[in-house]
Amino acid sequence: MKKFLNLGLQPLANSYITRNKLNHKEKKFKLIVGFNPKNYLVSILNTIPKEKMFNDKYPYKSSESLTMKKSFKDLSVEIKKKFKPNLILEIGSNDGAFIKNFKKNCVIGVEPCKNLAKITRDKGYKTFSEYWDVSLAKKISKKKKIDVIYSANTLSHIENFSEIFKAVNLSLSDKGILILEDPSLLECIKNVAYDQFYCEHIYVFSAIALKKILDKFNFEIFDIQNTKTHGGSNRYFIKRKKNSFYKLNPNVLKNIVVEKKNGLHKFSTYKRFANKVLLSKKRLIQVVKKIKKNKKRIIGYGATAKSCTVLNYCKINDKQIDFFYDTTSYKISKFLPGSKIEVKKYKKLKKNVTDYVFLGAWNFKKEIFKKERDFIKSGGKFITHIPYPKII
Ligand code: TMP
Repeated sequence: MKKFLNLGLQPLANSYITRNKLNHKEKKFKLIVGFNPKNYLVSILNTIPKEKMFNDKYPYKSSESLTMKKSFKDLSVEIKKKFKPNLILEIGSNDGAFIKNFKKNCVIGVEPCKNLAKITRDKGYKTFSEYWDVSLAKKISKKKKIDVIYSANTLSHIENFSEIFKAVNLSLSDKGILILEDPSLLECIKNVAYDQFYCEHIYVFSAIALKKILDKFNFEIFDIQNTKTHGGSNRYFIKRKKNSFYKLNPNVLKNIVVEKKNGLHKFSTYKRFANKVLLSKKRLIQVVKKIKKNKKRIIGYGATAKSCTVLNYCKINDKQIDFFYDTTSYKISKFLPGSKIEVKKYKKLKKNVTDYVFLGAWNFKKEIFKKERDFIKSGGKFITHIPYPKII
């Protein structure tokens, strides 16, 4: 593994702090990112035990965003039409934004975060509050094999691929397929989106890296869709190599060619990326400094895990950003890890509240700008750091 980026000491990104623990020492870890020239995988070097991150207080809910809800709904329509599955399973079903698009008797959720699993179970969806592994796969698929396994923004959180793919192989029906969706490394590099790296995002995948991993487990990608969610993601359609039911879509080769053209197989690309990250940090600090020099207020919008990386890396805290607005009930009245900026219950933006808004949830820019068009019309400004720090 060749290191190329050091994002400094970081707290656990989703460990929001309650007011009574504000003075407690936070656990921090070194956020260093590396590239493996053999299998092209880009990953963080120091991983945190999963039980510390995915517990019964997991704050992130997919249904908080209209963009995500729509994306899952559209995909469910496509899955029903194209693959006509009798049984679907989602690994990392979160609060049910995907599974709720299917009939209750033909979908299963797997969600280790107990608070989230409870949401879908209470609504009558079969949900296993466990980590996806071989023993769970055996238990679930004993009577009936699964036709489609879907997993969005979850494989990037899991260190041990071997267990995952063995469990998938065990539980899929003969024609069964796996659909994986995760942020695209190409988009991350192009947008200098270094905040895709945090404790939970162990990997940011490229098609060329995923191809190599799948090869080891006798799986292969037969189609790739480039989606706009989470700042640009790839949706990989995967089958067993021996399953000849699905033809190879030319999109797969197209993606591989584009990734290689952009140098995702070369270490030098990542060194250049690291230099751009440094520049991005310098510029963001300058932008914020200038606003504060003019005695203007900045608040944040979308207390994302990604913001945690940016704020801690750029050493921006509650001296510069007064508070963050967020719609997630669990985050409200707590404080962002490291930077200790308070999260307040979302209110429509108003110019008399603030002049500048740091866009933590830049991946929902379109949705947010639509929602806040009155603020923008009245002269309110957003600060974004993607693809480079600027005021819009
Ligand atoms: P994510 O980038 O990790 O998906 O997190 C998005 C966060 O932004 C989540 O905490 C919800 C919040 N959010 C808002 O507060 N308002 C919005 O309009 C949107 C789209 C997200």
